[in-house]
Amino acid sequence: MKILVIGATGTIGKEIYNTLKEHHEVYGASRKNDSYPIDITNKDSIEKLFKKLPKLDAVINAAGTAAWKPLSELTEEDYYIGIQSKLMGQVNLVHIANKHLKDNGSITLTTGILAEHYEPNTVPLSLVNGALHSFVNAASRELERNIRLNVVASGAIAGGFPKDKKFAGYLPVQIEDVVKIYEYTLTNTNTGQILKIY
Ligand SMILES: NC(=O)c1ccc[n+]([C@@H]2O[C@H](COP(=O)([O-])OP(=O)(O)OC[C@H]3O[C@@H](n4cnc5c(N)ncnc54)[C@H](OP(=O)(O)O)[C@@H]3O)[C@@H](O)[C@H]2O)c1
Repeated sequence: MKILVIGATGTIGKEIYNTLKEHHEVYGASRKNDSYPIDITNKDSIEKLFKKLPKLDAVINAAGTAAWKPLSELTEEDYYIGIQSKLMGQVNLVHIANKHLKDNGSITLTTGILAEHYEPNTVPLSLVNGALHSFVNAASRELERNIRLNVVASGAIAGGFPKDKKFAGYLPVQIEDVVKIYEYTLTNTNTGQILKIY
């Protein structure tokens, strides 16, 4: 398969990229990548990369951020960071990938445990993760050409996070197990799934 992995130098994306490249033709992209630059907060940048690449079977996004602050300190502008990056970055990616992917293509987004479990200082992430779950549920039913749309929601990744400390009430998860879920979305025929691992 020809697969684009966005966020390919990050904690999650790097492992997805390294695992998939053993068996597939994988393009690893991020803002600072010289060969395959992309900024998901900018629609033109997303479009430009899809036009540069050969026709793809799948895209996996593991990029997107939001503000980390206690509720009492959050401004409206702070919320827009996550809305522009993690939320609309991935929503715009779906619209653009939908035009460019091969028939039967696969789009996999990333949210996280904060969609449904609480951790201090992460309200903006909870907001966008929850919105993305609703988006995937609805948008997946309107994609044509048998293009599938799924999202992976993991707990904190062990390694970057202390392995015996809970995040949002759950112990960290192993990156190898998380990568298997992303891989599963490439070939499984289901769509509109919120694949939780925590
Ligand atoms: N790490 C965890 O424990 C965890 C758990 C659950 C969910 N998540 C979610 O998973 C996603 C990735 O997390 P991570 O920890 O792997 O992040 P990370 O280590 O900070 O890596 C982010 C990756 O995305 C790229 N990137 C950042 N902003 C971008 C943009 N606007 N456009 C394109 N690429 C961009 C970065 O490279 P450049 O700087 O070159 O752009 C990098 O490759 C986030 O949405 C996070 O909330 C993370």
